[in-house]
Amino acid sequence: MNIPIARPVIGQEEISAVSEVLASGMLAQGERVAEFERKFADYCGTTFGVAVNNGTAALHAALLAVDIGYGDEVIVPAFSFIATASAVSMCGAKPIFCDVNDETYTINPEQVAERITPKTKAIIGVHLFGQPFEVHALQEICESHNLKLVEDAAQAHGALYKGEKVGGFGHFGCFSFYATKNMITGEGGMITTNEKAYAERLRLIVNHGQSEKYLHTRLGYNYRMTDIAAAIGIIQLKKLDKYNLRRRKNAEYYNSNLSVPGLILPHVADGMYHVYHQYVVRLTGDFPMKRHEFIEYLKTKGIGTAVHYPVPIQRQPLYALSHDPDFCPVSTRLAESVLSLPVHPLLDGKELAYICDTINRVK
Ligand SMILES: Cc1ncc(COP(=O)(O)O)c(C=O)c1O
Repeated sequence: MNIPIARPVIGQEEISAVSEVLASGMLAQGERVAEFERKFADYCGTTFGVAVNNGTAALHAALLAVDIGYGDEVIVPAFSFIATASAVSMCGAKPIFCDVNDETYTINPEQVAERITPKTKAIIGVHLFGQPFEVHALQEICESHNLKLVEDAAQAHGALYKGEKVGGFGHFGCFSFYATKNMITGEGGMITTNEKAYAERLRLIVNHGQSEKYLHTRLGYNYRMTDIAAAIGIIQLKKLDKYNLRRRKNAEYYNSNLSVPGLILPHVADGMYHVYHQYVVRLTGDFPMKRHEFIEYLKTKGIGTAVHYPVPIQRQPLYALSHDPDFCPVSTRLAESVLSLPVHPLLDGKELAYICDTINRVK
């Protein structure tokens, strides 16, 4: 067996859609991008979608659209992909690290409240691994302190919080279509918002601050998506719900079949529709192997795994704020103990059974 941790699902439809764009001669931004923006926004139930060339650009542009800059603080979870924090640094602002919930691994609202200072301008919540964060709690905090809420939904296309799609709860929803995500364009991203003024500002920011051809009214970037990427995105969006259902079925299979002492399976909180961008288990002291031994064992059996993420952001050399185990201790503990198993939509029943059997034999 050779089971990779991720397998992009690209079919003939995507190949034909890209070929059409190539044949049309319109390789940069054109009608496909506009169509993808409309369709993705409709899917998320938001009024606007602004396409960009990756998820990091989506976060950076969203923060710039609400004038986050030098002297400002933005509260972010310490346990996430680096871009959640580095997008804040790109604005010249300071990421303030907050710990995550011990069971769901998403941002801990109580700690968010403790981190607020007069300099706080925004909070980025991450729908981590495909499970929404506690949206209402963060919305309340933002409303009572007049802060902006950014949803980092890079890993959660189609996830639901109390029955509603993520991406429309905050002032902005920021998505990534990187090649391993639940839907993909190779590299790509989208910002969703319900505010016309924000959408207009975002359009300037992602296109050189250009209000008319060669007239630049503010500092902007080249964060544009191409029609080639959008053509893939339009097709992928049609398949997203089906892929997410398969991810959920694979996760259910693991939930019902994995059983080793010290192996903690994902916890899904009430009201969350988890789309399992990753199926993340945790190894406690009772687990018969150390994490690196377990990874090696699975590798020899042809099973790919990954650690998301081995270093919590506050300990990254980029920030290196604290090696104090009492600072964001849950994030530190998770970084030492999590492991992602394959959960992608192309897994078949035989592969799932083989993975469970291989894991359950660990002694
Ligand atoms: C939580 C999170 N935020 C942001 C990003 C950044 O997206 P991209 O890689 O498209 O720049 C990612 C992508 O891996 C992510 O997982």
